Amino acid sequence: IPNDGTSLKDMMKSHEKPCLIKSLINPREVSEMESTFGSWMKDTALLHDERIWVAEHFSGRVVKEYKSIGSFQNASFTMVDVRKFFQGCGHTVHNGSLYYHIAGTPTIARFHFETRRLHTLTMDNALHHSLAYLLQNSKTYFKVAADENGLWLIFASDVDDSIMVGQLDQKTFSITSYINTTYPRGKAGNAFIACGVLYVTDTKDTRVSFAFDLLKGKPVNVTFDLRPPGGVLAMLSYSPKDRHLYMWDNGYVKLYVVAPWETTLYMF
Ligand SMILES: *[C@@H]1O[C@H](CO)[C@@H](O)[C@H](O)[C@H]1NC(C)=O
Ligand SMILES: *[C@@H]1O[C@H](CO)[C@@H](O)[C@H](O)[C@H]1NC(C)=O
Ligand SMILES: *[C@@H]1O[C@H](CO)[C@@H](O)[C@H](O)[C@H]1NC(C)=O
Ligand SMILES: *[C@@H]1O[C@H](CO)[C@@H](O)[C@H](O)[C@H]1NC(C)=O
Repeated sequence: IPNDGTSLKDMMKSHEKPCLIKSLINPREVSEMESTFGSWMKDTALLHDERIWVAEHFSGRVVKEYKSIGSFQNASFTMVDVRKFFQGCGHTVHNGSLYYHIAGTPTIARFHFETRRLHTLTMDNALHHSLAYLLQNSKTYFKVAADENGLWLIFASDVDDSIMVGQLDQKTFSITSYINTTYPRGKAGNAFIACGVLYVTDTKDTRVSFAFDLLKGKPVNVTFDLRPPGGVLAMLSYSPKDRHLYMWDNGYVKLYVVAPWETTLYMF
């Protein structure tokens, strides 16, 4: 700790600013699942919401809701009908709503758990059917991602296969700006967004092999290891609430801590 009057709190605060991930640490296996494909989520916005939602497989109309990690491990859940069929493993729960791709359509749904209201957003010029996936390994056409800046929508252009990112405005449920990463979907295994940076894995999902700063609109020179090759990586998502990566890897749900920022912080 610097001996110049800087408090630990100030130091922590300065590290809460934009951040590049350099590696992943503290892997934790949470549970074995019955299906190879799926997505597990906590609300990425509501701080005290401990609920967990699980969307099994890459298509379905119901998700499982667990009250807490305890009931997740005890397998005590309730079923929620989300009103339309979802496709892929790129969903997100944010501020009480599930965001998902409505199967077979160019449409993103926002399903509010409490009111059961459904809002939709149609994406012209996005690949959305005929197996032309954004993320082939997880049969995903659209990925909704939450980070410190809010919500993003990752998709592939139907013009030239580039990975595109739209910034989602939650009030109007519309895209306010588009970013063309120029990175081809064919080179992508999975993708997530943290601190305004898009991270893309290689086609075997072993490494983050491409990163793009969405706020500055340019690539970033960052790569790091993710997991050993083999098995299906169905889901890879960042949560700004706890700064964990949520994974559905080879039938297991796992958590990683993203390592930063300053590794020395972990010594305190
Ligand atoms: C989970 O099950 C264990 C033992 O069966 C029990 O002690 C615990 O209270 C349960 N937790 C929840 C959250 O239901
Ligand atoms: C969550 O939604 C409520 C309305 O339901 C809104 O007032 C609030 O600003 C939203 N919070 C976030 C973090 O988006
Ligand atoms: C993305 O950028 C590349 C390189 O500038 C360009 O060739 C391509 O047409 C753009 N794609 C879209 C969908 O804007
Ligand atoms: C990217 O970073 C690596 C390691 O820090 C360095 O060797 C390489 O030259 C960098 N590449 C570019 C294009 O800046």
